[in-house]
Amino acid sequence: MAKPPVSENLTTLSVHLAARKPSVAPELASVIEAIALAGKSIARKVRRARIEDVLGQVGHTNVQGEAQEKLDVLSNDLMLHCLSECPAVGVCASEEEDEAVVVRPRSDGGAYAVLFDPLDGSSNINVAVGVGTIFSILPNDLPDERTAEAVLQPGSRQVAAGYVLYGSSVLLVLTTGDGVSMYVLDPELGDFVLVEPSLRLPAERKIYSLNEAYRRDFPAGYNRYLDWTHENGYAARYIGSMVADVHRTLLKGGVFLYPPTAVNPDGKLRLLYEANPMAFVVEQAGGVAAVGGRRILEISPEALHQRTPVILGSPVEVDHVTRHLAD
Ligand code: AHG
Ligand code: MN
Ligand code: MN
Repeated sequence: MAKPPVSENLTTLSVHLAARKPSVAPELASVIEAIALAGKSIARKVRRARIEDVLGQVGHTNVQGEAQEKLDVLSNDLMLHCLSECPAVGVCASEEEDEAVVVRPRSDGGAYAVLFDPLDGSSNINVAVGVGTIFSILPNDLPDERTAEAVLQPGSRQVAAGYVLYGSSVLLVLTTGDGVSMYVLDPELGDFVLVEPSLRLPAERKIYSLNEAYRRDFPAGYNRYLDWTHENGYAARYIGSMVADVHRTLLKGGVFLYPPTAVNPDGKLRLLYEANPMAFVVEQAGGVAAVGGRRILEISPEALHQRTPVILGSPVEVDHVTRHLAD
């Protein structure tokens, strides 16, 4: 029987994961749905933060040496709770946790490792600017139960990645290795519904996104690039939340950069739960994510919280950066 047309969008995340071609393993789908549940709960906390007085700092720093916001901790707790409830999750790693958190042994399920930045863009929380949750899913398949080490794999081994953006609407952007899909949280339905099955990033766009305040620290090639953009009609856009800057780059095109600085000689952004998931999404949408001519996804991690410079976006725009860095 042909399916009767209905006016509202009922292609929820669960329906779309079950219908995707090639199919998504049910265990992987369950991990993605656990992340979506945590995202819905975090969205509610972010929306009500000023009402429930959960803005502001906790009063101590995290392993990154950064002051933790109350919402960082709340978001981290919600992600760990929802992921621990999911039988397919073996190990978690978070920007807000010193070490990997083993949830269950491989022998008891635990087929996946989930790495995440529970709340990206913390400095923007108090001013109602877009923030988000970034996630990366790896197979927990190292030999002899080396579960805690399953988080230290190159980004090329990711089986899924994406982010939940708490902006003017709540969006979920996801790749499982066959393109990028986008969902919007329908508050009345209480679920994410599919709005774009195959996001493609524009090949070029004269927008560059980086924090020019550090311009004097950047290696010379970045300054040659910036001088070139200022003579070639580029627009500067920088929100200061990676998740929002990358989302704009995905939809409008352009290039996002976080170069080495004096404070962060390896760049500020973390490889495992910021750069890798965003690089996977950008590449799957037809973009490029490379530093020093090498794909970010090919970097072999040595440490859980290691940092990397980031250059990602439209192929033509990344080429302009690479050309000036090489000169
Ligand atoms: P987080 O809030 O998870 O610590 O991440 C903040 C990051 C990232 O979101 C953003 O791109 C970058 O910090 C902005 O750094 P600057 O303020 O140095 O530009
Ligand atoms: Mn972050
Ligand atoms: Mn964070």
